[in-house]
Amino acid sequence: MNFKKLTDLGDISGKKVLLRVDFNVPLKIDGTVQDDTRITASIPTIKFLQEKGAKVIIISHLGRPKGEKSPELSLVNISKHLEQLLNQKIQFSEESIGEKVEQTISEMKNGEILILENIRFHKEEEECEEKFTKELAHLGEIFVNDAFGTAHRRHASTAGLADYLPAYPGLLMEKEIEHLSPLLHSEIKRPLVMIFGGAKIDTKIGVIQNFLNKADTFLIGGGLANTFLFANGKNVGSSLCEKDKSELAKSIMEECSRNKKLFLLPKDVVVSTEISEDAITKNISSDSVSEDEKILDIGIETAKEYAEEVKTAGTIIWNGPLGLCELKPFQNGSKIVAEAVAENKGTTILGGGDTADSIKRLNIPEDKFTHISTGGGAAIEYLSGETLPGIECLKA
Ligand code: 3PG
Repeated sequence: MNFKKLTDLGDISGKKVLLRVDFNVPLKIDGTVQDDTRITASIPTIKFLQEKGAKVIIISHLGRPKGEKSPELSLVNISKHLEQLLNQKIQFSEESIGEKVEQTISEMKNGEILILENIRFHKEEEECEEKFTKELAHLGEIFVNDAFGTAHRRHASTAGLADYLPAYPGLLMEKEIEHLSPLLHSEIKRPLVMIFGGAKIDTKIGVIQNFLNKADTFLIGGGLANTFLFANGKNVGSSLCEKDKSELAKSIMEECSRNKKLFLLPKDVVVSTEISEDAITKNISSDSVSEDEKILDIGIETAKEYAEEVKTAGTIIWNGPLGLCELKPFQNGSKIVAEAVAENKGTTILGGGDTADSIKRLNIPEDKFTHISTGGGAAIEYLSGETLPGIECLKA
């Protein structure tokens, strides 16, 4: 790997380190942390910097506030959570840029940790706007990027900072690249089965395209499946669906069929008119969804069919749960498939905060999988062979 290493950093005692992490974690209704996998994953980097006597200034985003301040997406609860995990006081700054932050940083002692407020409260972050990036860079002396989960975004704090500061990968970033890069360079054990699900469907459909030549089998679930079902002329009722991506969905299915790839969509689905723990559900054919129903999981027959495909796979890459796993009535499809993946003796890579969260909810031990990546979109884009700005900027 032609990257500088964190361990190459010389004496950083007293240095101001801007540490970009991905603390974009699922929250409970009361705003506290639901799943802290991504937070714990960056602790080795935080401790490393702290033990070297650096002033650790943590930057992250949470959700998609689109440049607006929104209290429910504040990092304050995440800062409290980290405080508990590290069992020490952490400062929280209500601002993420500007004089007040500079003042707070100037008062930091060696080894102290400060978390800045959600960087996406500033629209310039996602625009990687030059003046904003320079101002952010001005807060520190070294940039450490541990946010593998956000490495596919060219934002001020994920890539832009490297234009102004010496840039290093954090220990989590290094570990992710170590686990995932062999899948790019060495011979992949076949068949390669891709499982795609989840609710974040906007970019996923494009990423599937990148795998059309690489993968042998595609198993589709979650919100993404609805777009394909709709493109096939099915009624998806009031389900999550990107109707404007119909043509793209059709062309993906056509290309799979031309190249004799297996592209499976749910034959049956679990539907409900409500999204709640005590929702009344029906397992029906995907041909019989009515207007007021939402598809919230793959059906039992589909889950069994997917599990069969998984059994013989040499490599499995799974991104996104197959149903709304936060709620028990919609977990069954992911459970059946996850158990089959856990049994598989080939290479099994799971990606994304929501996938990791669902594995925990389903009580499947994490060591049953080759690697659970903290990146969802990032892992899948990386594995598809795309260059990620948050990684490119760290090359030596
Ligand atoms: C993720 O959860 O995939 C990352 O944190 C990136 O979030 P984004 O899709 O809102 O950029």
